Amino acid sequence: MNAPARNEEFAKSIPAGVYAETVLSVQHYTDRLFRFRMTRPAGFRFRSGEFAMIGLMVEGKPIYRAYSIASPSWDEELEFFSIKVPDGPLTSHLQKIQPGDIVLMRKKPTGTLVLDALTPGKRLYMFSTGTGIAPFASLIRDPETYEKFEEVILTHTCREVAELKYGLDLVDEIRNDEMLGEIVGDKLRLYSTVTRDDYPFQGRITDLIANGKLFADLGVPAFDPAVDRGMICGSAAMLKDTKELLEKAGLVEGANNKPGEFVIERAFVG
Ligand code: A2P
Repeated sequence: MNAPARNEEFAKSIPAGVYAETVLSVQHYTDRLFRFRMTRPAGFRFRSGEFAMIGLMVEGKPIYRAYSIASPSWDEELEFFSIKVPDGPLTSHLQKIQPGDIVLMRKKPTGTLVLDALTPGKRLYMFSTGTGIAPFASLIRDPETYEKFEEVILTHTCREVAELKYGLDLVDEIRNDEMLGEIVGDKLRLYSTVTRDDYPFQGRITDLIANGKLFADLGVPAFDPAVDRGMICGSAAMLKDTKELLEKAGLVEGANNKPGEFVIERAFVG
């Protein structure tokens, strides 16, 4: 079933109190991953790194899932990076959207992967696996990230090389963008690794932290709570294992109401 385009009857079926936005573009990367961009409601404000509830009407009922907003807070459009789950209640439908279709969004964004939840530091690590790169796609396009940190290291680990493309293209776009490229300069570094394909950089990020290869490859010292800050987004197991490594290095978890040295959020699944 495709998401219906806007018409009068459909407009009446849209639940009250949610935004109904128009899909502008869709790009499929693999049979598991795609991104889409849609219109941004005039009054919709969010902080880079937050997530929103995104939905579709399926058989007359709205189905929502949490999605990190992948575009930065200044962008006129909204971008999302999604997994395709064959039997997923939402993604089995969402993966079929086309430009012109309507996607629902609840009004209030939220989340912990925001700059405000971190205490001041020099080097910001963003650790992501799979679609967990989405909130960081937002933050690495936000000038505030580079006002607050001297160095930004985004790690992205996927099973296969093809799954890295979203992140690689994104960083290329940032570097080639006249305004953003100047702000970002050489502060941003992308460290991409895969676990189930041949690639120059291989392995789980947790192993690469534990054995020191991450630091050796980047030419930076090991974690230091005095200067390093972290954000983590991936599966539950990845969050737990990465969090343990940061805590072992002495970093303390923070939250919106109590900024700390690192913050975590589970990537959307399903
Ligand atoms: P692996 O291939 O060894 O399972 P997924 O699509 O299952 O979420 O996995 C995305 C990436 O995250 C894969 O490269 C996967 O590696 C890696 N990964 C899975 N579990 C963990 C974990 N506990 N810690 C670190 N990386 C993980």
